[in-house]
Amino acid sequence: MSINIVIRELSTIDDMKKAEALQRLVWDDPSTVIYPHMLISFARSGASMLGAFDGDELVGFLLGYLGLESPTSDRPAMTNLKLVSQRMAVMPAYRDAGIGYELKLAQRRYAIRRGIRLITWTFDPLISRNAYLNIHKLGAIVRDYTRDFYGTEVGPLTHFGSSDRALVEWWVTNNRVEERIHRRRPPLTLAQYVDSSVMIVNPTQPASRGYLQPSETITMPPSQLAMVEIPDNISDIRDDDPDLAIAWQKHLRETLENLITAGFIITDFVRGEHEGRVRTYYVVSHKDAVLSRIVGSSS
Ligand SMILES: CC(C)(COP(=O)(O)OP(=O)(O)OC[C@H]1O[C@@H](n2cnc3c(N)ncnc32)[C@H](O)[C@@H]1OP(=O)(O)O)[C@@H](O)C(=O)NCCC(=O)NCCS
Repeated sequence: MSINIVIRELSTIDDMKKAEALQRLVWDDPSTVIYPHMLISFARSGASMLGAFDGDELVGFLLGYLGLESPTSDRPAMTNLKLVSQRMAVMPAYRDAGIGYELKLAQRRYAIRRGIRLITWTFDPLISRNAYLNIHKLGAIVRDYTRDFYGTEVGPLTHFGSSDRALVEWWVTNNRVEERIHRRRPPLTLAQYVDSSVMIVNPTQPASRGYLQPSETITMPPSQLAMVEIPDNISDIRDDDPDLAIAWQKHLRETLENLITAGFIITDFVRGEHEGRVRTYYVVSHKDAVLSRIVGSSS
């Protein structure tokens, strides 16, 4: 982080009012806002409420509350706890400066101090910035996809009547995660995947106005590793070309559902120049090859 940002826990009602204002700025819809009276209750009941400050100004916010790893299990709660991460927001002018990443690392420290090994959250898998942060920078994985997680009514969490979400699992004490966040072992680059002829299950074409067009066919990978392309600019597509955005939503839903059903897990997300333009891809690995290494604690 080049700017002088301080990350600290939020604890006062004034902090909570700032968190409310930041949510209003980012989501611009009162129905989506978690209000200060709820936030202060969370904070006083052991939730992880983190803020990123530039001076007195709250420019980033992240809430995490306790949940159950297996909600339907009768396991004692102390052996079944996870942290559910919710509502990460960074002010637009402060994005892409590593603030989201630092907030997540602070959340990870909160979890490890309390013996919690798993943090989960959901995200729209068409938003490549979020995929890059969650999967590539933090080393989280995805093996669950939910259709219309927040329903289908018009609102800031839906797009064209759909709110599909990927469930992120961040196994915070796992070796792979440690390696990724401490940059001990550089992850493979897009160029290395391409050079190794890793299969792309949905080869795309540039369409009108230069936006990527999803492929009409999806080829299931014959090997244990493959890539899935998404556009790196879905918010522009959603603004400019709703039909293309809807086509992408349907296409990614079908692709990820098929891959997950066939036993694939999202294990990385790569971004780089390919064929003369910036491209972004999920990397999927078959669970038989990777599951024991990427899920759970290493110690
Ligand atoms: C998601 C969000 C919190 C991330 O915060 P942030 O401070 O910008 O995150 P970071 O800077 O730590 O990481 C963003 C990364 O994405 C990269 N990125 C930017 N645009 C990208 C794109 N189109 N495709 C892929 N990666 C992209 C950035 O370069 C950066 O990586 P780098 O550090 O290697 O350069 C912020 O974008 C936000 O508030 N979004 C709106 C609300 C939201 O979506 N919340 C999350 C719901 S799950």
